[in-house]
Amino acid sequence: MTTFAQQPYLTLNNGVRMPQFGLGLYMIPEGDEAYNSVKTALELGYRHFDCAHAYQNERSLGRAIKDSGVDRDSIWITSKLWPNEYGEGKTLKAIDRMLGRLGLDYIDLVYFHQPMGDFVGGWKEMEQALATGKVRAIGISNFDVKDEIFDSLINSAKVKPQIMQIECHPYAQRKHWQERCAAEGIQIECWFPLGGRESKGEILRDPVINSIAKAHGKSAAQVIIRWHLQEGFSVIPGTSNPDYIKENISVFDFALSNVEMAKIRALNREKRYFNMSYEEQVKWFNGWNPTD
Ligand SMILES: NC(=O)c1ccc[n+]([C@@H]2O[C@H](COP(=O)([O-])OP(=O)(O)OC[C@H]3O[C@@H](n4cnc5c(N)ncnc54)[C@H](OP(=O)(O)O)[C@@H]3O)[C@@H](O)[C@H]2O)c1
Repeated sequence: MTTFAQQPYLTLNNGVRMPQFGLGLYMIPEGDEAYNSVKTALELGYRHFDCAHAYQNERSLGRAIKDSGVDRDSIWITSKLWPNEYGEGKTLKAIDRMLGRLGLDYIDLVYFHQPMGDFVGGWKEMEQALATGKVRAIGISNFDVKDEIFDSLINSAKVKPQIMQIECHPYAQRKHWQERCAAEGIQIECWFPLGGRESKGEILRDPVINSIAKAHGKSAAQVIIRWHLQEGFSVIPGTSNPDYIKENISVFDFALSNVEMAKIRALNREKRYFNMSYEEQVKWFNGWNPTD
């Protein structure tokens, strides 16, 4: 078991410390599968869970945490609001409903999941939630869709986001957004860190990554996770497979050399696996809302 103390932390721009590594809960069905994944992960030492209202499994996450007996304050819980929950008079109420679904009295990190709707108005209530301690950090997800959209949030915010969650992996290292976030003091957290299901394992089969894995007696997934950690990203690989849950946290007993890091950096081709245009996203995401 990986102990909590072995895991690295990141200090966000408001001084809050976040476990750098966690479990992603996208596509893990509410009920036994999500509950058991979180329970297994907690037993193996995971202390960071990435959820969202849209994943519809916040209740199982909250139940598993309560039943685990692990100290709540040692666990980092992230969830995300959907665009229909953004706006003055809406966002604080939506956070209260989120707290109810999770069965918690504070959330470590709340994101705006998608960059549409009244995110400027809603951000004011995110700032209030932060000020009152309902939330310990506030972030934006997928605001890498256009510079203008990122700028409109950043330029109107009194409190800048602590973190931005975007697709990022060795084949799409998002150099532009690494620079923009570094300039604003915003931490990057990577979704599709292994390429996601859409990649059909393409990055996991990469020969450079596999030769590095062989040299360390580790798997390709472990090398990719290690690369994220050593780049300074927060990383949240997703799975409900207990073997993968165990494998993915077994990354704190080896390190990639500078040469190996450079070899993986050289794989960048800014190839994303999620390629829906912003206009299509607006149509798609406004046409569906999660249930409470
Ligand atoms: N903000 C956003 O819009 C957004 C979008 C996407 C994801 N996310 C977050 O980011 C998290 C991670 O993204 P993701 O889960 O989509 O993609 P991912 O972690 O890159 O990839 C998940 C895929 O990798 C497989 N996998 C996991 N560990 C493995 C291992 N050790 N060896 C081989 N295959 C392995 C999984 O297999 P199985 O299918 O067998 O489990 C699954 O098919 C999500 O769970 C979610 O929390 C956020």
